[in-house]
Amino acid sequence: MTDRYAVFGNPVSHSKSPRIHALFARQTGEDMSYEALLAPTDGFVAAARAFASAGGRGANVTVPFKEEAWRLADRRSPRAEVAGAVNTLEFGPDGIFGDNTDGAGLVRDLKSNLGCDVAGRRVLLLGAGGAARGVVLPLLLEGPEELFIANRSAEKAARLAVEFARLPGCALPVKPQGGGFGELAGASYDLIINATSAGLQDARLPLPLGIFAAGSLAYEMLYGRDTPFMAQARAVGARVADGLGMLVEQAAEAFFVWRGKRPETGPVIAALRQP
Ligand code: ATR
Repeated sequence: MTDRYAVFGNPVSHSKSPRIHALFARQTGEDMSYEALLAPTDGFVAAARAFASAGGRGANVTVPFKEEAWRLADRRSPRAEVAGAVNTLEFGPDGIFGDNTDGAGLVRDLKSNLGCDVAGRRVLLLGAGGAARGVVLPLLLEGPEELFIANRSAEKAARLAVEFARLPGCALPVKPQGGGFGELAGASYDLIINATSAGLQDARLPLPLGIFAAGSLAYEMLYGRDTPFMAQARAVGARVADGLGMLVEQAAEAFFVWRGKRPETGPVIAALRQP
């Protein structure tokens, strides 16, 4: 029998995940289906449980349900535990397992697809919401020289940095710092990751011109649009990447959780980039 998977979100019709997982399944010969399921904003838990009862084996979870998915899981991976959000669920006989593959997806895209090592680099993470929170630990574990979290609400970034600097049971090689955009004056970074949602409103971030070091990479977590952040980086000669690679890599990591196989992501990223 074909194993069923799905992505839950609201909205969800735009999701590229069904196409990505169909390509992974074809490539690896796995007998599985994957569909996009719209859950009402107040009905995610009921929809996920109904899907599991009907034989669903696992699911991805996207906006706005990642925190609810975290609470729904009976067991969680350490990386999901600290992220406070779950994007991958597995329904098994011993309950619901929750994982978060977003950070691993980002790090893999940076290292394998873009040739950008995080180790020893000065890294700036823009934003302190759910998208930023999910990638802090995987970035720190790579051993950057420095990680600064900058956010419009400075307090939120400072709190996030303190939280990760004090993670119990985790001797991190570097402690993150956090604050407002004003604190960036005079600083420059090798890797600047935009995890804010400013691009969705075409809003420009108040970044000082010198923030992009020579040879730096500007990484926009959004995809499918050219954001003001990307334009700002391009204007000063920085390398620019969007979040499509991260999307495919987090999916590959979820596929591995479910099927124990690592699909090749290069051809899938290339297929998605076709107009
Ligand atoms: P997500 O899950 O996408 O991270 P979120 O938790 O609502 O969504 O967080 C949105 C992030 O984008 C926040 O860091 C937010 O900054 P504030 O905490 O100050 O609200 C940031 N953001 C959204 N619009 C922005 C804008 N126009 N300029 C700067 N930052 C913005």
